[in-house]
Amino acid sequence: MTTFRAFRVEKSEEGEFSRSVIERDVADLPDGELLIDVAYSSLNYKDGLSATGNPGVTRNYPHTPGIDAAGVVVESSSDQFSRGDEVIVIGFDLGMSTSGGFAERIRVPAAWAVAMPEGMDARTAMVIGTAGFTAALCVDKLETMGLTPERGPVLVTGSTGGVGSVAVMLLKKLGYEVHAVTGKADKHAFLEELGAASILSREDLQEGTNRPLLKEIWAGVVDSVGGDILFNAVKSLKYGGSLAACGLVASPQFGATVLPFILRNVNLLGVDSVELPIEEKARVWQRLAGDWHLDGLEALVEELTLDDLSPAIDRILAGEMVGRGLVKVSA
Ligand SMILES: NC(=O)c1ccc[n+]([C@@H]2O[C@H](COP(=O)([O-])OP(=O)(O)OC[C@H]3O[C@@H](n4cnc5c(N)ncnc54)[C@H](OP(=O)(O)O)[C@@H]3O)[C@@H](O)[C@H]2O)c1
Repeated sequence: MTTFRAFRVEKSEEGEFSRSVIERDVADLPDGELLIDVAYSSLNYKDGLSATGNPGVTRNYPHTPGIDAAGVVVESSSDQFSRGDEVIVIGFDLGMSTSGGFAERIRVPAAWAVAMPEGMDARTAMVIGTAGFTAALCVDKLETMGLTPERGPVLVTGSTGGVGSVAVMLLKKLGYEVHAVTGKADKHAFLEELGAASILSREDLQEGTNRPLLKEIWAGVVDSVGGDILFNAVKSLKYGGSLAACGLVASPQFGATVLPFILRNVNLLGVDSVELPIEEKARVWQRLAGDWHLDGLEALVEELTLDDLSPAIDRILAGEMVGRGLVKVSA
C-alpha cells in the first residue's frame, strides 16, 4: 500500500482551520525506523487542541493529529522490532509535529514504540489510550507517595472524561472509595456503574476558593481539570495526602498559598505521559495488561472512524465527551 487514508487538518492563508479525510502517500511520512499499520487510535483532548491550531501542540499545517496509535509493524530498520510485531505508540511527538495516529499508517522512531504486552490487544490499548494511561500514571504516583485504600477516600475530577473515567475504574478495582466530580448531571448512573461511591458537582468543588484551608477529606486526588478546582482539592487533602495533576481543561492557572503544604504536609504531584521514558511507559503498560487489567472497559467506548472524528473533536473541546473515543482506523 503506497497510499493510505488519513484525517487531515489544513490552515488557510486567512488562518482558518478545516478538516477532511484524504489519501496520503507513504513517501510523505517523516523518517523513522518503524512503518506501522494503525489498527486503532483514540481521541484525546490534546488532539482537539492540535486540530484547532493550538501552537503549544502543533505549529505546522497541513497536519494529521492523533497522539495515540496501536497496530502492526510493516517495515522495520531497527533490531528491536520486526515486521509483524504488534506495538503501542503514545506520546513523544506523535500527533504533535509528527504525522499522527488518525491515519492508516504512521512512521516513527523505534524508541517511541512499546511491544504489545501479553494480555493486551490493540483495541484495549486504545480504549485506554493516553488518557487512561495517564490515569494509571496518576494512581501509580499517588501510591508511590504512600496512598492506600486505608488512608481514606480518593477524589477524581473531570470524572466522565477520558482520564477521569479510567481513574474511577482503576481506583475502584484497587479497593479505593472513589468520589467523582462531574459537570454532567445526567451521568451519575454512569459514574456509579464505574464504581463511584458518591458524586459531587463542579460547583461543590468551587466552594471555599477564598479560604486558605478546607475540611480534610481526601487521602488522594486525581485531577485532570486544573484551575480553582485543583487547589480547592489540595486544600481538602488529609494530612500527608497527595494530588496528582495532569490536566488543564478548566484552567492552567490557580490561586494558591503555601498553607496546605506547610501545615498539612500535603503533596502536589506533576504527571506527564508525553516525555515519560519508554522503559517507564513499558512498565505501566505491563501493569495495565497484568495486575491492573480493567474488566468492563467497553462501557467507556464510543467507537469512531476517521469519518466521524470532526464532530467528536468539537465535543471533546466543549467538555461533552463521555468516556473514551476509540478510533477504529483499519480492520
Ligand atoms: N499530563 C499528561 O500527560 C496528560 C495526558 C492525558 C491528558 N492530559 C490532560 O488531561 C485533561 C483531560 O484530558 P481528557 O482526554 O481526559 O479530556 P476529556 O475526555 O475531555 O475529559 C475532561 C473532562 O473534564 C471535565 N471538564 C471539562 N471542562 C471543564 C471545566 N471547564 N471545568 C471543570 N471540568 C471540566 C469534563 O468532565 P465532567 O463533565 O465529568 O466534569 C470532561 O469530560 C486535558 O487537559 C489533557 O490535556 C494530560
